[in-house]
Amino acid sequence: MSRGRFVSLEGLDGAGKSTHLAWLTAHLRGRGIEPVVTREPGGTPLGEKLRELLLHEPMHIDTEALLMFAARREHLAQVIEPALAAGRWVVCDRFSDASFAYQGGGRELGVERLAALEHWVQARADGLLQPDMTLLFDIPLEVSRARLANGRELDRFEREQDAFFERVRAAYLAREAASSGRIRRIDASRSLAEIQADLALLVQQLEAA
Ligand code: TYD
Repeated sequence: MSRGRFVSLEGLDGAGKSTHLAWLTAHLRGRGIEPVVTREPGGTPLGEKLRELLLHEPMHIDTEALLMFAARREHLAQVIEPALAAGRWVVCDRFSDASFAYQGGGRELGVERLAALEHWVQARADGLLQPDMTLLFDIPLEVSRARLANGRELDRFEREQDAFFERVRAAYLAREAASSGRIRRIDASRSLAEIQADLALLVQQLEAA
């Protein structure tokens, strides 16, 4: 059986993640890989209920972090780990790096608390379960804000102020720097063709790894 791979996608709201996720999925299919495509918070029936609460219900920051990781625990147990064990590729729209960026950076929750939750939920006999590769779609704040101003109703995170998103972006970049190459920053302010060329190369690297 071939080995599965775990890929996560991250970035500020409005970074074009959904478009890139759709392209990546089609690209993998074209290479004979049928990925399990999923998202956080969410990905399971319970996780999707938690997502509704997380995106729309005011709550204490600790509650927010705990629910993000509770949804993640369920997602790992029900979807991600069974898929990887069966040799499937998993493409996940956000994972723990989003908690470090949004709850840690944006809401300024202490990193020790997040690291404790990460350890609780992701520690396995052979170390911390992390994506094999994380694609960080990075755009300047102005671009993110302009794309979000497109009329639809914004959720609890999207309604935050610029300073919040500056901290989210800085936390993502700090995590990238500390990730020993797991997190790949992609300049998402370029053309689709340029971004897709990068993604195709990264997929090749991951297949070969
Ligand atoms: P996302 O699915 O990217 O939103 P959309 O459907 O609008 O594209 O993510 C939903 C929000 O959840 C996003 O603003 C980031 C936030 N989030 C966290 O704050 N912490 C987390 O751990 C995760 C996974 C998401």
